[in-house]
Amino acid sequence: MSNVERISCIAGDITRLNVDAIVNAANETLLGGGGVDGAIHRSAGPKLLAECRNLGGCPTGEARITKGYDLPARYVIHTVGPIYSGARDDDPTLSACYRNSLRIAAENHCKSLAFPAISTGAYGFPFKRASRIAIASTMMELERLLTIEQIIFVLFSEDKLVEFKEILGGSN
Ligand code: APR
Repeated sequence: MSNVERISCIAGDITRLNVDAIVNAANETLLGGGGVDGAIHRSAGPKLLAECRNLGGCPTGEARITKGYDLPARYVIHTVGPIYSGARDDDPTLSACYRNSLRIAAENHCKSLAFPAISTGAYGFPFKRASRIAIASTMMELERLLTIEQIIFVLFSEDKLVEFKEILGGSN
């Protein structure tokens, strides 16, 4: 399948998706927070935090994998997006979140993976700019990660889904 055929986008709650792995937009402590991080920890249950405590945190731009516990997803891949500041390394760091998450998903034989809009909430990354980076980085990695069959971008509102679809449609 072509890269674009393996990519889709929906509006919804990522914690409800029955995929091999969902990606969490975490912070460097990996000890939970608000937004999608809070939703994932609430749905996965306390064992997720217990496993995260043993990981010793995660630097911005990198990713770590844990079990999904009470989530429908088998794994959670925690990645830490950049806090948007307009600095030159904001874009490459956000790209690294997607590339590292995809690499770890492939290493763990995940065939399906769902992403939230990393850094576009509390971390203030402009949504359109972040969406272009997410799509370009994912399409590039899918060229070489042939075992990943399905990528779902999960937007948290219909409005954001419409915006994202416009960018996704323009990228193929
Ligand atoms: N499902 C899908 N997307 C969600 C959900 C959910 N249940 N909840 C929130 N979102 C969306 C937000 O609307 C936003 O578009 O996820 C995107 C990322 O927003 P945040 O969760 O605020 O993440 P981020 O901007 O990366 O900030 C990370 O916030 O929650 C803390 O611990 C986290 O410190 C870290 C920071």
